[in-house]
Amino acid sequence: MTERKDDRLWGGRFEGEPNAQFDAFQRSFAFDRLLLSYEIKVDQAWAKALEPIGILSTEEVQQTLTALKKILKRAQTDTAWFEKLAAGAEDVHHFVEKALTEELGPLGWKLHTGRSRNELVATDFRLFVIDAVSSMQYLLGGLLRALLLQAKTNLGVPMAGMTHMQHAQPILLSHFLLAHAEAFIRDIARLERAALSADACPMGSGALAGNSFAIDRDAIARELGFSRVTANSLDAVSDRDFALDYLFALAGIATHLSRLAEDFVIFASQEFSYVTLPDAFSTGSSLMPQKKNPDAWELIRGKTGRITGALVGLLTTLKGLPTSYQRDLQEDKEGLFTAHDQIADMLSVAAGAIAATKFNADRLCTAASNPALLATEAADYLVRKGIPFRQAHDIVGKVLREAEKQNVAWTALPLDILKTISPAFEADFAKSFSVDAALAAKKVRGGTAPDAVRAAIADLEARLNKKATTGAKP
Ligand code: ARG
Repeated sequence: MTERKDDRLWGGRFEGEPNAQFDAFQRSFAFDRLLLSYEIKVDQAWAKALEPIGILSTEEVQQTLTALKKILKRAQTDTAWFEKLAAGAEDVHHFVEKALTEELGPLGWKLHTGRSRNELVATDFRLFVIDAVSSMQYLLGGLLRALLLQAKTNLGVPMAGMTHMQHAQPILLSHFLLAHAEAFIRDIARLERAALSADACPMGSGALAGNSFAIDRDAIARELGFSRVTANSLDAVSDRDFALDYLFALAGIATHLSRLAEDFVIFASQEFSYVTLPDAFSTGSSLMPQKKNPDAWELIRGKTGRITGALVGLLTTLKGLPTSYQRDLQEDKEGLFTAHDQIADMLSVAAGAIAATKFNADRLCTAASNPALLATEAADYLVRKGIPFRQAHDIVGKVLREAEKQNVAWTALPLDILKTISPAFEADFAKSFSVDAALAAKKVRGGTAPDAVRAAIADLEARLNKKATTGAKP
């Protein structure tokens, strides 16, 4: 048969025309066109696999491969042609088949032998996720490098470390920046795991039951760069765990970015003034001329909602599905594509804003220099004199209360008063406490002592260089 009554992929058993609104409603080309280059790659691998099983001759394979290459090129360069063909395309699979038959005539219809869009879409989408992971790792690398550079530039600047948003103990600003860096390093690893779950090729699964033409699944997988094939055809057409894993990794990045954003929004407030917002990453108010607002950070924090929403959305779509392909699965793509684009922007903006931020060393240092932050050091002093910690904690509490009563800093209390609280206090007490000494004491690995932080910077740099952050630019 060389005649077809219409160019739909499934028109044969239908008599009537589809309802126009429903027809538009069921199409996915508006968003799955993003998968076009992957679709073409899969088509090329499939064309080659059809030769050894006698469906395509060597010449037909060559003709098909050449046509597919031409279609991709034309789609990227000839907008008028693309839009005309797109207008009638149900999805990316339909688009390529239309373009292929336009190019090759009935030969174009042979390519779909033994295969289904159900396996095609799963394969294209997996390939997209694998590439998306490496572009996201590249962007994470950029943010990490910006954090590391600030950590190095500001090495030595102390700040008031907080818990419960209350001043707690002095730490180095660099230590604080590296805390955020650790979270983003974990994101790189989480992305890697998402790529691993995407790394299995569904082609050969058919619509649900497998392939009757003894197609060489391993060869197709190899050709496409997958390291394995999916194990069960029914699972292969319904599994979207790789998309969930990628969205989970994106939600993790968003959450970490949002926390970073929150810190900088607070630090930029007049009460803190720890940072001066860079003009290039801030906006003003249409009413209040003096305002400079941390919009870059606020938008990053705000956009986190929709990233998490995309993860929850797909989980919800999947939860009630019967085994096998269901059309609901078409809903897997838009949320992920948008989340991917948003995170890419969020990471680039965050990296730019971090790099351009000026830290106000004086303010940070003043906050760190409040003697109250050294109270734990005083307890440690008594512990070194042989007093059990709980008792030492109690004694220092009394010292603080006395200082409060006298309205002086506790470090200014004379020795005779201190001795009435505990005989363990000696003449070296007053001299024992400084921000520098408190910092230097935390020299344990992972602590905030300058030497430990220097080592952490070197270690982080080494780990970053080992990770795949030099991958593809998005
Ligand atoms: N556009 C569909 C999707 O995104 C492709 C698969 C359609 N399969 C089908 N039998 N209708 O999931």
